[in-house]
Amino acid sequence: MGSPDKADAERRPCDQVRVRVPATSANLGPGFDAFGLALTLYDDLIVTPGGSGITVTVTGSGEGELALDESHLVVRSIRAGLEALGVPVPGFSLRCENRIPHGRGLGSSSAAIVGGLAAAYGLAGEPVDRERLVVLANELEGHPDNVAAAALGGFTIAWTEGETGRAVRLEPAAGLAAVAYVPDNRVLTKEARGLLPSVVPHTDAAANAGRSALLVAAMTGRPELLLTATEDRLHQEYREPAMPESLALVHKLRGSGLAAIVSGAGPTVAVLGETPAPTGKAAGQSQFYRSTPEPPDGWTKYELGIDPVGVQVWSMEAG
Ligand SMILES: Nc1ncnc2c1ncn2[C@@H]1O[C@H](COP(=O)(O)OP(=O)(O)OP(=O)(O)O)[C@@H](O)[C@H]1O
Ligand SMILES: [Mg+2]
Repeated sequence: MGSPDKADAERRPCDQVRVRVPATSANLGPGFDAFGLALTLYDDLIVTPGGSGITVTVTGSGEGELALDESHLVVRSIRAGLEALGVPVPGFSLRCENRIPHGRGLGSSSAAIVGGLAAAYGLAGEPVDRERLVVLANELEGHPDNVAAAALGGFTIAWTEGETGRAVRLEPAAGLAAVAYVPDNRVLTKEARGLLPSVVPHTDAAANAGRSALLVAAMTGRPELLLTATEDRLHQEYREPAMPESLALVHKLRGSGLAAIVSGAGPTVAVLGETPAPTGKAAGQSQFYRSTPEPPDGWTKYELGIDPVGVQVWSMEAG
C-alpha cells in the first residue's frame, strides 16, 4: 500500500472508460437472498469525463423510459463510487447500451449499480477492488445477492455482517449453462417481496437448508443433482399470485425433468443444466439448449452461459 500522495501520483486521468457488466440470477431456488449466478448477457457503459454537467444516452432496455439526469441509477452509482474513492470528476457523458431486461428478475438494477461503481474506479485510474465493490453496491442495492455475482462472476454466496455486504465466489461446474424464459411483463422486486410470510414451518426451513447445501455441491461439480437441489419451499410458491404464469412454467419444466426456478424476484424463469459431454463444451451446450422447450407466447428465450469474471473495466488513458 502506498501513501495517499503516492496513490494520487499513481492515478492516471483517462479519456474514456468502458464497462461490461453481466446479468445475474439470484436465489436459484433454495438459496434465498444468498445465491447468485452471473450470466453471459451484458450491459455496456461508456463514460467520457469532461465538463461540469452530465449527458446520458440509453439504447436497448429502458430506452425512452429512464430519466436521463442525475436520478439515473448508473449516474448515481458513478457519483457514489467517485465519492467513496475521494476523486472529484464533476462532469461526464454516459452512454448505456443495455441488453438486460428491466424488472424481470435478471439483476438489471444490480448491473447498473455495479457497472456505475466499476466505472468510477476506471475514472479514478484505480484497479477495481471487488471486495469493496460488493460492500458499496450492497449499500446502494439494499441486498447483496445479485451485486455479488455481478461483481465477482461465476457462482456466488452472499451475506451481510451487520450492514456490510460480503460474498464468496465458487467456480461453477465446467459446462454449466442456463436458459432464461423472460415474459414481457414486469414484476417489481418490492411487490414480489410483499407476498412472503413472516413465519414459515420449521420443516420447510429445514428442507431449504438441506437443499441449499446440496445446491452448492450440484453447482460446483455434481450438476446431475440440480433438479433435486433446486427445490424450494420458502419463496417461489408464495409469489404465485404476482406471477401465476411463471409458476405454471416452473411446474411444467420441472415435471419434464428440467431444473427450473424463479429467477430472483421473478417473473423470469431460469433453467440450470449440465452439458453432457465434458470434452465438447459447445456441442454439449447446444444439446442442453435443445432439451429446453420453446417459450410460451409473449415470452423470450435466452440461451446463456455462465459469466466467469464479473464486471470488466477498460480505461483508455490520456497522453
Ligand atoms: N441499466 C439501468 N440504468 C438505469 N436504471 C436502471 C437500469 N437497470 C435497472 N434500472 C432501474 O431499476 C429498475 C428495475 O429494478 P428491479 O430491482 O425492480 O428489477 P431487476 O433488477 O431487473 O430484477 P431483480 O432485482 O429481481 O433481479 C428499473 O425500472 C430502473 O428504474
Ligand atoms: Mg433489482
